[in-house]
Amino acid sequence: MNRSTDLPLVVAITGASGAVYSARLLQCAARARVPTHIVVSPSGAEVIRQELRLPISPTDRCIDALIRYTWPGEKRWIPLTEEEIQDYKAVCQIHNHGDYLTPIASGSFLTRGMVVCPCSGSTLSGIVHAASNNLVVRAADVHLKEHRKLLLVPRETPLSVFQLENMHRAAQAGAIVLPASPGWYHGVESLLDIIDFVVARILDHFDIPHKLMRRWGEPPDQSVSAKPDSPTSVHLLERAP
Ligand SMILES: Cc1cc2nc3c(=O)[nH]c(=O)nc-3n(C[C@H](O)[C@H](O)[C@H](O)COP(=O)(O)O)c2cc1C
Repeated sequence: MNRSTDLPLVVAITGASGAVYSARLLQCAARARVPTHIVVSPSGAEVIRQELRLPISPTDRCIDALIRYTWPGEKRWIPLTEEEIQDYKAVCQIHNHGDYLTPIASGSFLTRGMVVCPCSGSTLSGIVHAASNNLVVRAADVHLKEHRKLLLVPRETPLSVFQLENMHRAAQAGAIVLPASPGWYHGVESLLDIIDFVVARILDHFDIPHKLMRRWGEPPDQSVSAKPDSPTSVHLLERAP
């Protein structure tokens, strides 16, 4: 039996605001060499186009633009090298939103878990009603029925009673609801600190090593969760001196 940390991660990107979190998340998965299965909903692609100005299509087999993305003017956001990109693409699969023939549509395909980031209210609703009417909702349903980790990153404010109820139901069914609501207590110096707060919490849930942010209680010079020379450590955060 595989160790769960050798298994692929499923990343679904849906049409809530916060596309930047998904770009950063995929890059961290790439740096940590985590095999990844990716699904982008049509609305997710629209939000990526709107917010990141990237010409991505949900049926695009290549998510080059997303894994190459850096926030304009954010010098601390270190892009992946060409080698890292090619290595990642070799262990990455992009699936069409309506394709139920993919491995992640079946419980027999083992994964380390699934994250929907960002998670729209519409996808949240589909998941808690077991609609299985697209691959994101089907794969989420598979993770719930197999009692595997399912992490939802909703982004909406304010929240309607229905959305609150849906989050409650998702949590009752075993999902982890991790709203994209960054903290401000870790020493925010730039936008990247806000983005990384959310992404770091996601990575922690899947045992993906990173040093995106200093943990509460850690002195500033120990802001790592893996040894810097470890092959799986994520060198995304290099603070300016
Ligand atoms: C630019 C843009 C931003 C959006 N932001 C949100 C949002 O923050 N939260 C949300 O639940 N829906 C948001 N929506 C609406 C969803 O995209 C819409 O409900 C869509 O049906 C979701 O489909 P999906 O879940 O298949 O991606 C946004 C749509 C657009 C175009």
